[in-house]
Amino acid sequence: MDLRGLLSFYFLLLLVAQPHPGNGASSRGSIFGQRRTPAQEIGTCETTVVKQGYPCQEFYVTTKDGYILNMQRIPEGRVANGEKKQPVLLQHGIFADGMTWFTNQPEQNLPMILADNGFDVWIANTRGTRFSRRHAFLDPNTKEYWDWSWDELAANDLPAFVDFIYSQTGRKVHYVGHSLGTLTPLASFSQGLVVDKVNSAVLLSPIAYLSRVQSILLNVAANTFLGEAAGLIGIAEFNPKGDPAVDSFLRSICTSTGLNCNDLVTSLSGFNCCLNASAINNYPENEPQSTSTKNLIHLSQIIRTKVIAKFDGLLLYNLRRYGAFRPPVYNVANLPRDLPLFLGHGGNDAISDVEDVQYLISILKYHLGDNLKSLFVKDYGHFDFIRAVNAKDLVYNEVVDFFKSQK
Ligand SMILES: *[C@@H]1O[C@H](CO)[C@@H](O)[C@H](O)[C@H]1NC(C)=O
Repeated sequence: MDLRGLLSFYFLLLLVAQPHPGNGASSRGSIFGQRRTPAQEIGTCETTVVKQGYPCQEFYVTTKDGYILNMQRIPEGRVANGEKKQPVLLQHGIFADGMTWFTNQPEQNLPMILADNGFDVWIANTRGTRFSRRHAFLDPNTKEYWDWSWDELAANDLPAFVDFIYSQTGRKVHYVGHSLGTLTPLASFSQGLVVDKVNSAVLLSPIAYLSRVQSILLNVAANTFLGEAAGLIGIAEFNPKGDPAVDSFLRSICTSTGLNCNDLVTSLSGFNCCLNASAINNYPENEPQSTSTKNLIHLSQIIRTKVIAKFDGLLLYNLRRYGAFRPPVYNVANLPRDLPLFLGHGGNDAISDVEDVQYLISILKYHLGDNLKSLFVKDYGHFDFIRAVNAKDLVYNEVVDFFKSQK
């Protein structure tokens, strides 16, 4: 293992081995009690979208398991024309929230490009991220709040977002997901969930098969650590910057090694060709956002087993939940044949490896035929698809055309 691998390992060890109850909440303001109101009032619309001249509304949507999730809606572009618009739902990936789409200038950001092209844009914020930490009865400082993985994101969060948009607009949605936001619709759609309210889907830096992940952090996590130990230690919230001790330790090793701590997730996920460092530095608070440790264990399960299946717990857990010893498998070939899909992936992505994505494409192509389009950008890493300064020219114009070609 090289130096970076070793550091990643210690980083992970430190994070998972040190319980840090409450610190994550206090550094960003506790969700329960007094800080809740300001967090709701000063959301992404006000801090980021309205300033750029776009209309924007905040919504809260409750999942069937009680999580209260924040959405933003940009109902039209800077030039309003009063037409009824086709809704598009944007779903970010892990360690991020909806703000991730707004890193760059309006002319470079996917939500604003879509709004200016006549779409009604909805931004999802996954459970556990800063504006989606409330629950009908659970406190985010408890283990129970964090007892979920991407199974629940597919079964509960995505249906809640889509159903809400449908109830507000009476229209089916186009979907755009990045990274983990591609695995969840594949899991939902393959079980027949929400797909009747989805017009088409764009999957950027898709995550499904993960047998060739090159990311040192992910491989170390998957093979040696997360699967075995983290669950036992019982850390519920995985908050990469919640603990001041972890933070200062990280900063000291970053200084001595040149690893970019301000964007640790990016620096461990492959080389991104076309990010704007000064734009990212404008939002140092945005990432990484929390996720559940169980979600990481479940992701590492895909890497270790090379199978896309529901969370594999202990025997009794599986029997109780699935009525079987083994968790059921998600079969992506169950997607409806008439669902138009667009996959965008990059040649420098250390997570969505080219061969893994090609394997996914081969399965979907066999199944969907002409309803599947794919776009390969040789120089792109995992995050270029949401943040590259040239993503409009290389990717988003094609996304807009893809949506406009659907009825
Ligand atoms: C990079 O970001 C800065 C700050 O937001 C902005 O002023 C600049 O125009 C951006 N550069 C490019 C090439 O988009």
